Amino acid sequence: MASYTTEERNGHPRTTVKLEPGERVALCRCFQSKKFPLCDGTHRDVPGKGPVIVEAPGEPPAAKEG
Ligand code: FES
Repeated sequence: MASYTTEERNGHPRTTVKLEPGERVALCRCFQSKKFPLCDGTHRDVPGKGPVIVEAPGEPPAAKEG
């Protein structure tokens, strides 16, 4: 599952998103998401804006059977 941290760097926030192999997320670029940096669909109310889709290479880990 994607995780992220935000730190301040040179007076500006910097967010790092970590993905699992094969994971896909939508990152907000309208700055209106309540789940920022992840897109929550709020961009639908912001004309001309939409998310950035990011996909991590690789295959997701095999599901454990139990
Ligand atoms: S909510 Fe901002 S791009 Fe989707």
